[in-house]
Amino acid sequence: MNLTLKIWRQKNAEAKGKMTTYQVSDISTDMSFLEMMDVLNEQLIAKGEEPVAFDHDCREGICGSCNLQINGEPHGPDRGVTTCQLHMRKFKDGDTIVIEPFRAKAFPVIKDLVVDRTSFDRIQQAGGYISVNTSGNTQDANSIPVDKESADMSFYAATCIGCGACVAACKNASAMLFTSAKVSQFSLLPQGEVEADRRVLAMVEQMDKEGFGNCTNTGACEIECPKGISLENIARMNRDYLKASVK
Ligand code: SF4
Ligand code: FES
Repeated sequence: MNLTLKIWRQKNAEAKGKMTTYQVSDISTDMSFLEMMDVLNEQLIAKGEEPVAFDHDCREGICGSCNLQINGEPHGPDRGVTTCQLHMRKFKDGDTIVIEPFRAKAFPVIKDLVVDRTSFDRIQQAGGYISVNTSGNTQDANSIPVDKESADMSFYAATCIGCGACVAACKNASAMLFTSAKVSQFSLLPQGEVEADRRVLAMVEQMDKEGFGNCTNTGACEIECPKGISLENIARMNRDYLKASVK
């Protein structure tokens, strides 16, 4: 396939960015989207030009690093996949593809397509953990019964990879889907219940501090989430937050 790529180029966080057009040729339909970007970068390097910076690590849908806005959609036109799992067979020969960074005030652009998502780390650090006494008295985790339904719901919430597509998809740049998944994975389990009130209050406070917008229930986040994180998590977090704030 031969493609036209319109890519956001920005030298650094302070510079003003702009869209730049590139042509790439001989792209196989079996290539992943990131492999197609590798081909472009090889061509740019061969011409002595600066390659396009983009984030990636595992390239198998588990780390959450890759995050491109492709033709206006986080992770592109496929469903339930990250950018690294998106294949070029989703496009046609002669297509023009628009590639931008995830756009949100709380995700400032660092360079080209790379954004700073440490705001997510700070939300996680505010309470996304359980405190365990490891001084020798630790209770065997298997001795605490967990009902199957709660275990499954907690597991599904824990599949969030922190990619940020939910934020990029939301017209309010809300991080409610991410935060609620991180809250739910603990609050659904007896081990996480102990700190549930403190956790939900602290994580929501940090989310607001980072400058994410409010949730208005449009549901774009759930549609674009590569891991199918459910809106139910947001409803659960809202209930938990209300309960914790009136205590
Ligand atoms: S909720 Fe989904 S879209 Fe949002 S960060 Fe987690 S995996 Fe990514
Ligand atoms: S590079 Fe790890 S999820 Fe895409």
